[in-house]
Amino acid sequence: MNIILLGPPGAGKGTQAVRLEDEHGMVQLSTGDMLRAAVKAGTPIGLQAKAVMDAGELVSDAIVSGLIGERLDELGSDVSVIFDGYPRTAAQADSLDEILSARGRKLDHVIELQVEEDALVDRITGRFSCAKCGAGYHDRYKLPKVDNVCDVCGSDEFKRRPDDNEETVRTRMAEYRAKTAPILPIYEARGIVAHVDGMAPIDQVNEAIEAILATAT
Ligand code: AP5
Ligand code: ZN
Repeated sequence: MNIILLGPPGAGKGTQAVRLEDEHGMVQLSTGDMLRAAVKAGTPIGLQAKAVMDAGELVSDAIVSGLIGERLDELGSDVSVIFDGYPRTAAQADSLDEILSARGRKLDHVIELQVEEDALVDRITGRFSCAKCGAGYHDRYKLPKVDNVCDVCGSDEFKRRPDDNEETVRTRMAEYRAKTAPILPIYEARGIVAHVDGMAPIDQVNEAIEAILATAT
């Protein structure tokens, strides 16, 4: 199975992708995570991407589509994947069609998470993650069960993303409205889009996504 989780920054794509990995053995392909890893490793792609990401703008289509193609080749053809944060432009949607068909894959579902803009800012500015294992948390909506100790790996070190400040979030949302939201009709015309109320609690969003995955396209 191949699905896209589509939605503005902070809609809960990463949160839900991790749930699907745990429940179905699917693999999350997050271009944001891939780019952050490249920045951390200081690769040529990372050096090119850092300033663009810090400004909340979009990295070039060729770079992100290249990353997705490479990662799919590493995974092989039997693994089900969740595209998280990709595609983000019409050119990336075209590239994804080519990448999938060249590998004998097809898109099963495009799931749009719908969240109001004020809630997105609140979610993103409160977000932090475990510095060791990457588990995601939130100052108000998802605190570690024991104060300052990661639920997953027990580490007491946490970090925040440099692009998670209000000013950059507004730019990221403007990019989403201008370049990403317009790709939805491409998939709507294929009859594979489902909309989910992303304002609901995390468990309820997960249930709604599970119900969609249980339907054939
Ligand atoms: P990327 O890493 O993809 O960031 P994003 O799209 O801005 O999305 P986020 O990761 O911020 O949000 P999310 O929807 O995953 O929400 P999350 O689950 O964490 O991209 C970063 C940058 O990389 C881009 O700006 C761009 O520069 C570059 N880039 C990446 N891909 C690219 C591409 N394809 N093309 C070009 N450039 C690209 O949830 C947010 C918070 O809310 C968490 O704290 C969570 O605990 C909480 N939360 C989640 N769900 C709920 C809920 N239902 N109720 C309450 N709280 C919730
Ligand atoms: Zn951890």
